[in-house]
Amino acid sequence: MPSGPFAHVCMVVSDLEKAIEDWTKILRVLDPQSLEQRIVKYDEFSAGDDAGMKWATFVNDHSTEIQFIQPSPNTPMGRRLAKVGEHVHHLCFTTDDVQGAMDKLKAEGIHLPGDGQVFNDPDMTWQKWSWVGAQSTHGCLIEVAAPYESKNDGRWYHAPNKFAYKGPGEHPSHAEVAPIAA
Ligand SMILES: [Fe+2]
Repeated sequence: MPSGPFAHVCMVVSDLEKAIEDWTKILRVLDPQSLEQRIVKYDEFSAGDDAGMKWATFVNDHSTEIQFIQPSPNTPMGRRLAKVGEHVHHLCFTTDDVQGAMDKLKAEGIHLPGDGQVFNDPDMTWQKWSWVGAQSTHGCLIEVAAPYESKNDGRWYHAPNKFAYKGPGEHPSHAEVAPIAA
């Protein structure tokens, strides 16, 4: 599992196998520990309007992970790939309280496409996620998701309560700007 709440960076790619091949070469030089565990890979994922996407994540216990999505043609993400080419799609931050984080971001006036709606998927029922928009991030989307880990078996599992604090605004260093509830 990633070493902290900044869990992964995700690229939208046209050829998942080629992206894995190229990034294996890159990580062999820059972060070989990313290649020690089995890659997590799903060849069919429901994902609502983007049904049929494939995705993969390099497992990295000491840093942020690298992820790819290959969308299905004629889905919203597939049409976006055809229009703008391969690109960084999102940064993922994990928290045990996805809904609570979205409520706090909304209270800060942050741009939330879908108004902070939290999504779920029948292929991974424990996983919840939502999106922060590019108007506020100044670039790509942010995915806010439940913490996850792999067991070196190519799959993701729920990993609650893994980090030192429970969610955004609850770290003591931010007490002045987001008071900790009594
Ligand atoms: Fe992601």
